[in-house]
Amino acid sequence: MTNGELEYIKNTVISLEPRKILETGTRYGEGSSTALASGLYELGSGSLHTWEVYKPYYDIATNNFSNSVYKDIVYTYLGNFTEEVDKIPLEFFNDLDLILLDGSDETPEGNTTISSERWIESENVKIFSSLVKRINKSVYFLLHDWSVEGGRGSFVKMYLETINNKKDFTILNTLRVNPEDVGLALILYKNKEF
Ligand SMILES: C[S@@+](CC[C@H](N)C(=O)[O-])C[C@H]1O[C@@H](n2cnc3c(N)ncnc32)[C@H](O)[C@@H]1O
Repeated sequence: MTNGELEYIKNTVISLEPRKILETGTRYGEGSSTALASGLYELGSGSLHTWEVYKPYYDIATNNFSNSVYKDIVYTYLGNFTEEVDKIPLEFFNDLDLILLDGSDETPEGNTTISSERWIESENVKIFSSLVKRINKSVYFLLHDWSVEGGRGSFVKMYLETINNKKDFTILNTLRVNPEDVGLALILYKNKEF
């Protein structure tokens, strides 16, 4: 992520005051996870729960956070979130206010695993729709790689164009600080049934 994106993420946390944040794609924890944690740290409340599938990255991130000022804020988890999402107790979602998706649809080396034409097979689309099913209030999503061909966020964008309950989703902002940025979208989901 670029510095502009990281600053936007931190400021988003400060303005939304989320009680709980879920993230996929921790990597070393030095990018978006730290931006999210630093927003919570400034607020003085809230927790970040972040998942990483690749053990060497998880180990580094866990070690980094346990030796930092964020040690009581950040909870790191090892696992493939596409599978892990089903194991999370439903109560976890009650106070979840913000979700940042920046994992899946890529190899540990960072190569994308699917093309735009096959977006329907995207792990991020599966994760996004699984999470939405578990939310019985409103939640904000930050989706990275929103504006780039073949990006994980762009697969969710394609999914949103096809669904019937579009009105439940409001795209509040799409950010591209520098022309070379891959794009970050802030979306509000409101479950209208509740
Ligand atoms: C683009 S990087 C994340 C960068 C990080 N958010 C940052 O700002 O530094 C994507 C990360 O997602 C991880 N990942 C890929 N598939 C995953 C999955 N199914 N569940 C959890 N993490 C996954 C990769 O190993 C990689 O570390």
